[in-house]
Amino acid sequence: MIPAETVELIHQTAVIEDVVGEYVELKKQGSSFRGLSPFTNEKTPSFYVVPSKGIFKCFSSGKGGSLMTFVMEVEKVSYPEALKIVARKYNIEIVEKERTAEEIQAETARESLGAVVSWAQKWFTEQLETEKGKAIGLGYFQSRGFRDDIIEKFKVGYCPDGWDVMSKAAVAAGYKEERLEESGLCKKKQNGDLFDFFHGRVMFPIRDVTGRVIGFGGRTLQTDKKIAKYFNSPESPLYDKSKALYGIHLAKNAITKEDSCFLVEGYTDVMAMHQSGVENVVASSGTALTVGQIALIRRFTKNVTVLFDGDVAGMRASLRGIDLLLKEGMKVKVVTFPDGDDPDSYSKKVSSTELQEFVKEGAQDFLTFKSDLLSEGAGDDPIKKAELVKSLVDTIACIPDPIQRTVYVQAIAARLQLQEKLLHSEVSKKVATDIAKEQKRANRHLLPQQDYIPPAHLMSVPQVGAKRLRTERLLLEDNLVRLLLEHGEAILKIETQNEGEKPVEVDVTFAELLIHRVETQSIKMEDPSTDFILSKFTSSLDAGEIPSTEAFFTGTSEDVQKKAADMLVSRYSLSENWEERHHIFSVKEEDDLEKALSASTIRIHLHDSQRNIDLILDQLETGECSEEEEQRLLREKIALDKKVMELSKVLKIVILPK
Ligand code: CTP
Ligand code: MN
Repeated sequence: MIPAETVELIHQTAVIEDVVGEYVELKKQGSSFRGLSPFTNEKTPSFYVVPSKGIFKCFSSGKGGSLMTFVMEVEKVSYPEALKIVARKYNIEIVEKERTAEEIQAETARESLGAVVSWAQKWFTEQLETEKGKAIGLGYFQSRGFRDDIIEKFKVGYCPDGWDVMSKAAVAAGYKEERLEESGLCKKKQNGDLFDFFHGRVMFPIRDVTGRVIGFGGRTLQTDKKIAKYFNSPESPLYDKSKALYGIHLAKNAITKEDSCFLVEGYTDVMAMHQSGVENVVASSGTALTVGQIALIRRFTKNVTVLFDGDVAGMRASLRGIDLLLKEGMKVKVVTFPDGDDPDSYSKKVSSTELQEFVKEGAQDFLTFKSDLLSEGAGDDPIKKAELVKSLVDTIACIPDPIQRTVYVQAIAARLQLQEKLLHSEVSKKVATDIAKEQKRANRHLLPQQDYIPPAHLMSVPQVGAKRLRTERLLLEDNLVRLLLEHGEAILKIETQNEGEKPVEVDVTFAELLIHRVETQSIKMEDPSTDFILSKFTSSLDAGEIPSTEAFFTGTSEDVQKKAADMLVSRYSLSENWEERHHIFSVKEEDDLEKALSASTIRIHLHDSQRNIDLILDQLETGECSEEEEQRLLREKIALDKKVMELSKVLKIVILPK
């Protein structure tokens, strides 16, 4: 936990335009700043920072929020991590406290492991400057055609071949033997001495999404087939292989911008792609893809293009990983390189532009690829052909979206000249058995301590009609929030009268009036974020103050922050000289806030009455009501119709009866 005072200090110190300015080139425009969105590839700037409100708003991606929301979005980190990033920028020291003994232990283990591996990374990289390191380590990377800027970008290194050169340096630098062993960098000989696990290898540091070193891959320089080509760091409290992707911290921005991610096999493939100007690329590092790794990619995009080297056996082995990608709701494409080439070797044969075109234009739909790959092996053999169909059915059944499944059934049926109906029913059967299996698993997981989240295709689909009415309601609620945030501090003169006394005029804030109306008219907010914002106002007003903008952006949910930002920044309020250019709007909302509020609450009542009428009509239509019930429903409808008429009259709109 970061102490509250420190959080406060970070918020007070940080200047939103300065922090955002490190990611976006901002130009001052009136009282706000404007620039190109860091989240999309837009050509005209629609990204705004409003210093007076401490918020940003990106119209091309819809994102918006406080400074911390921005850091969280752009760095794809959690709130505490974002605080740390900003603290670092302003040299604010964070002394964490109030953790349980276990947390402290786990954290200190992670921290001291982190210190060891990040020291080691620097040390390995420095070795490239020693006489031997230059000749052997750096020489190796150069002989493979890697440019200096790429060698520098990936901070690769070299572990000298003297068995314990690194171990000695590490101990001399003050690192404990125990930690060195735990990190996997050192091992113990029988006599108790440490030796370097990676001795004589070139080193690839593996980093987490924030860029912290968490482990290493080390490649031998020998051609002896008996020696494992790569050694990798063991798992540790710091290094969870199932959640790590090589290159993710260098790729994340490009993945967001391109809205797609290339998946390759190895360290050198990632480096080679960067050298050719493709940065949205990560490697699973030789292991089968895991759900955790897919979740990491999904933070940035849903589109994955898998780059296969041209080896058929390898491709077949990788097919299962792709089913997993589909199951997790990713859209998958495939690029295959000419026989014997991988992204690394191919990139050395063609120009950067050619490689970029090859991976972009050579991308093939995954199912077409799979069906072609397997058909080749099957020939006319009926048994093999049946296996092929079964395997394709299994894959199509992985796709969560039913419409997409249907499209694939049609395409594959045409391609393999199968009966569409037949294929469709096979897929449906498979989906049904998968669902049954999933439900069985879910039941086992029903125990409360487990957060079971069903896969996307098992979630129920909302009804269209209900959805439409709900959207309307949400927009009306949004309008209330907007009024509240925009004009909450305005002072209104309200006439009140106690029984038997003369009416008096009192000053109230608009926020008080709004909350009072919502409460006395029993308007319930259906959107959780709106409800949150209103109750925050209620409790602050009870304490005699109006909540600051910051209150909605610190420690609140993403939804709340997005809503607050949306409501605080409208495109119009950002346009320059809006009022001057549009004289027609001379009667402004703030001139009659009372009226704006009444209209806003009346619209909600009107909406709710109409929704209730619709519900009654639905019920009557089913024809399953008893006569008595029907009478009751009709009476209710008449009452509601009357209410709608009255409300509309106040709003001066005409509603035709149904
Ligand atoms: N790998 C591994 N252990 C091995 C072989 C491979 O962990 N014995 C992993 C590495 O992460 C490697 C990836 O699998 O990056 C792909 O293997 P390969 O294509 O053989 O390695 P490259 O990275 O392409 O290395 P190079 O080009 O130097 O052969
Ligand atoms: Mn390779």
